[in-house]
Amino acid sequence: MTDETLQPNTADDPLEKAEAISYTKLYEHWERHNWSAAAIDFDTDKTHWRERLTERQRDAALWNYAMFLVGEEAVARTLTPVLDSAPGYAESIFLTTQIVDEARHHVFFDRFMREVASQGRDTQSTLDAADRYLTWGFRQVFAELDRITEALHKKPKDLPLVAQTIALYHLVVEGMLAIPGQHFIQRYVRKLDILPGFRHGIDNVSRDESRHVAFGIKYLGDLFRRSKECRDAAIEEWNRVFRWTSGVFVPPNLDPSYAECFDFTLEEIYAFGLRSFVTKAKRLGVEPFDEIRMLSRLNRELTYEEHARNLWVMIRAGVVGDDRREPEMNREALELLFDGMTRGVDLEVARSLGGPILWDFTDTEPWHLVVTNGHAEAKPGRVENAALTLEVSAAEWAKISVERADPRMALLKRRLKLHGSFGAKAKLPKLFLD
Ligand SMILES: [Fe+2]
Ligand SMILES: [Fe+2]
Repeated sequence: MTDETLQPNTADDPLEKAEAISYTKLYEHWERHNWSAAAIDFDTDKTHWRERLTERQRDAALWNYAMFLVGEEAVARTLTPVLDSAPGYAESIFLTTQIVDEARHHVFFDRFMREVASQGRDTQSTLDAADRYLTWGFRQVFAELDRITEALHKKPKDLPLVAQTIALYHLVVEGMLAIPGQHFIQRYVRKLDILPGFRHGIDNVSRDESRHVAFGIKYLGDLFRRSKECRDAAIEEWNRVFRWTSGVFVPPNLDPSYAECFDFTLEEIYAFGLRSFVTKAKRLGVEPFDEIRMLSRLNRELTYEEHARNLWVMIRAGVVGDDRREPEMNREALELLFDGMTRGVDLEVARSLGGPILWDFTDTEPWHLVVTNGHAEAKPGRVENAALTLEVSAAEWAKISVERADPRMALLKRRLKLHGSFGAKAKLPKLFLD
């Protein structure tokens, strides 16, 4: 392995590629690439922060770096149970180095936030100052990381639980969120030629993260080979967290200038994150567009950029991205929702109804879905011969579709009413929700 093969920050990192990469090689890579966060000189950064960045850019940087600061603190803290549960010596050695890395990353962001961005007076108050910038999605993902590592702490011998933790920690938090975030930071500090101390640090952080993700893929691959339960558990975890990850980079008031002031778009960062995850999952023999619920509804003909644009339609409509928002369904969001449902619907069950399904929306025009020649088609408008009619608001149905709301609860509270034969009504859970 040469350093040329270790260019970080691509969605498809060569470090991860080799099944052949051994824990020993990853350890050696760590030794060769040690660096000092304490020795970085931030003098020029302080001047740049005041004089070269606009107020908008400082706000955007604070919002973004706050998540890294809090994230690094959390991953340093939650890796101990992962280390304790490692089944072999080689994994333990690498995980020990990773704990050191994450602590160093925290020191780096902590110094920058306090010394350059004037946030807080000491480690705790700097962390506290970052709290107000954390997004809903960030809080959900990291609450899940706390939950799962706490469970692992109690049951260190539970290998499927180890697999779930690695699936969340290395593949999602590091691979899908941190590395894409760092990629765009690296791009703009380089392009604008600003913040040299920060740039030095983030380049090193990013190389470390690539190594961590490479380890995660290898480790998870080993666990998958040990048992199918480990593979199932990882997929279950991805199913659980995907809705939350879509909210991590949602800026205050959905304001796109948080990215655009640094010359990238929010759609770009989501496309990068999705591509990064899909590439890694496939390397593990998982077909994300078949096996992960939220992704299985996507039109696989589309590019990552198109998926990201569509996801942003749903984020802006309030369907995903922040559960505190009530969806406001417009035509474009409804089209995407029904497009996904035509792929998510169980065709056998739908056909067995013997007629179309009608959504008699209480707040917008009706939609219906029919199965013909082995595929489902959804269109706006009413049909007369519906076998099953759902009387519901489009907002409530959107929440049910993305697993934000429980359909049984909606039925109980009469927010969802079904019309049709007893048999047709009984089929609803099997139609969309398996
Ligand atoms: Fe880190
Ligand atoms: Fe890491």
